[in-house]
Amino acid sequence: MQSLVNFLNNKPGKLLVAGGFLFVSSEIVYELYLWLRKAPKPKPKSCEVFFVNRRKLLHPLPSPQEFLFEHINRIVQYIDRAERSICLAMYIFTVREISEAVIRAKQKRSVVVRVVTCESMVGNEDIKVQYKYKSEHLMHHKFCLLDTEWYCGSCLIAYHIAEYGEPTKHMQHTLFDKAVLSDRAGLLERFGSSCARCQKTKSRTKSKRRPQGPNSRGEVDPLPEHGLLIAGSSNWTSPGLITHWDNMTYTSLPDMIDPFTAEFQRMWYEFNDPLDKAILKEPLYRDRKFK
Ligand SMILES: *[C@@H]1O[C@H](CO)[C@@H](O)[C@H](O)[C@H]1NC(C)=O
Ligand SMILES: *[C@@H]1O[C@H](CO)[C@@H](O)[C@H](O)[C@H]1NC(C)=O
Ligand SMILES: [Zn+2]
Repeated sequence: MQSLVNFLNNKPGKLLVAGGFLFVSSEIVYELYLWLRKAPKPKPKSCEVFFVNRRKLLHPLPSPQEFLFEHINRIVQYIDRAERSICLAMYIFTVREISEAVIRAKQKRSVVVRVVTCESMVGNEDIKVQYKYKSEHLMHHKFCLLDTEWYCGSCLIAYHIAEYGEPTKHMQHTLFDKAVLSDRAGLLERFGSSCARCQKTKSRTKSKRRPQGPNSRGEVDPLPEHGLLIAGSSNWTSPGLITHWDNMTYTSLPDMIDPFTAEFQRMWYEFNDPLDKAILKEPLYRDRKFK
């Protein structure tokens, strides 16, 4: 010990200490420089709002086609990124580019596609849809969930009871509430009894997705980890997505995704009328034209 102190006190020892200090501090400065130089990665937005007849005035100008179809193209691009599921609740849905993207997701990437729609849409698409036959009430929703986490039966029941209360005998019940009241086994059978939501710890580590942000090969980003909600006032028709005064919100906020997912599943339960070929021949479905 004494000899070490002696050594550090003489000239070469002091030089060595000073040199070492200089080396370490220059390393720190260099690392700091590298860290500062790295441009901060833009955080993906958790919510974006678009207005249908308001388009981005980009320079250089995009082609007239791209300019006109900005909102349609955005929907197609998001649907093309779905890897697990598409849940679509759409009143009127006639845009061919979007239905092709949905079919592509189902056929090429084995994405689970569920569509709830107004009965007037039945028979128009190649995709199985669920609807209510001659319902007095419009399925007027216009929203789409991409890669969101499906509720299992138990989680769905728990969600609805927590948000809306427990149904009692004396209420007028919809089919779903009736099932919550007296056929929970049926709901579990329909929706399963475990899901990523109740198995959170297990699945979170398992279902690791690629990190956000563009990668060097120019591949498209994956969707947000817990999915995306597209909701707004637009029918998915050309005027609804090109010229009307309409708005659309794209969001990955769980506080918005969860209620829409739970509501979609309630509809999925309620809108379950059989697709009868004979019914499709009725006048309502023949020669229908939508603007
Ligand atoms: C959606 O389409 C239906 C049928 O064409 C129409 O009656 C309704 O007004 C449309 N809704 C919006 C918000 O464009
Ligand atoms: C979006 O536009 C529709 C139709 O103009 C309107 O009814 C609705 O309130 C708007 N939504 C929001 C969040 O402002
Ligand atoms: Zn669950």
